[in-house]
Amino acid sequence: MKTLTSTSLKPYHTFGLELNAKEIVEANTVEDFLLVWAQKPSEPKLIVGEGSNLLFCEDFDGTVILNRLKGITVRETKTEWFLHVAGGENWHDLVKWTVENHMPGLENLALIPGLVGSAPIQNIGAYGVELKAHCDYVDVLMLDGGHTDRLSALECEFGYRDSVFKRQLKDKAIVTGVGFRLPKQWQPVLGYGALSQLQDKENLTAKDVYDMVCEIRREKLPDPKKIGNAGSFFKNPVVTKCLADRLLAAHPNMPCFYVNDAEVKLAAGWLIDQCGLKGHRVGGAAVHNQQALVLTNADKATSKDVVTLARQVVDTVHRQFGVKLEHEVRFMGRNAETDLEAACQR
Ligand code: FAD
Ligand code: EPU
Repeated sequence: MKTLTSTSLKPYHTFGLELNAKEIVEANTVEDFLLVWAQKPSEPKLIVGEGSNLLFCEDFDGTVILNRLKGITVRETKTEWFLHVAGGENWHDLVKWTVENHMPGLENLALIPGLVGSAPIQNIGAYGVELKAHCDYVDVLMLDGGHTDRLSALECEFGYRDSVFKRQLKDKAIVTGVGFRLPKQWQPVLGYGALSQLQDKENLTAKDVYDMVCEIRREKLPDPKKIGNAGSFFKNPVVTKCLADRLLAAHPNMPCFYVNDAEVKLAAGWLIDQCGLKGHRVGGAAVHNQQALVLTNADKATSKDVVTLARQVVDTVHRQFGVKLEHEVRFMGRNAETDLEAACQR
């Protein structure tokens, strides 16, 4: 385990806010994680991958543990590739490596920031594919007894931006590794937006899909290395069919996706955009001009700027459409996870 000399959180989360932790350490082995929990039983602790889904609302009065578990092993059968990937590997590097090595399946998930160990937490998804499509199992370190366990994909209870790790196992388990199952018989997923252009391409490869996903993402989403952000700030809201029908009557071009007979998923980015909020600023925080679902650190934003902006977006969308947006980004308070409501009271 390595303790860093600096306590600045700025390099360790993609919003790039000027905040500090009490201590920042790197965990290179499973034993390192156990050591922190043994040495600091009553201190607040937070596991961080690349901090690309985190908003620190204030300084963190505890230890941040950076996941640095490394290693990939591959096994194959006649019909499938089986990968075991340590939680500290970079997600996009893994996707790129599988595509280059002719192990297709993860290409739609290219360029999602973050680590492999964080991917199951919210069941990352993009362009019609979610992690759950190829997740075989998730290895965890259980913090109550210090033992390791292997959860099947079913036991992870994956949903839209959701899993058991955000509910029953929240603060109880550390993801140490993920198992992937990639069928050799490739089924491209081209249903989402511009990807359908590839439908008629001869000799289509996973690399073609990967390249197009990277191109679309580079056009739409701000690069956190240049403009601080945490991707979609809010989840796409799932509303009753009754409300969706009412909104559709007034806005026939409103994008929506039928979840089941009774529920419809709306595009939060479209709702925010329709409220005229693109480019809207509070201090140094802004609604992104290309993608209204992304809130950015446009110019030395403080956490208060981002929180106030998020509040204004939620209130405006609620007033205009009667839809309550929930944040996808995880809010961290001084000692523990918090949320927009609580962060606004501060
Ligand atoms: P962090 O932000 O470091 O952590 C996220 C949460 O998981 C925290 O609560 C943390 O404590 C917990 N955690 C992290 N690692 C572990 C572990 N090993 N065990 C237990 N808990 C852990 N997401 C999508 O789903 N689809 C997208 O298309 C997408 N696009 C994005 C684009 C941009 C530009 C950005 C900045 C973000 C985007 N995201 C997207 C969100 C983000 O990339 C994912 O949520 C990613 O999985 C977060 O990984 P991370 O390593 O940065 O996690
Ligand atoms: N839209 C607008 N204006 C905007 C933004 C979007 O009108 O400013 C419209 C688009 O034209 C489109 C619809 O809203 O009709 C959906 O937009 P887009 O395809 O860009 O996707 P999204 O719903 O905004 C979701 C995920 C992204 C993921 C993309 C691609 C959520 C919360 N977000 O965004 O994930 O990359 O689809 O699959 O589900 C993330 O979670 O951080 C993330 C970036």
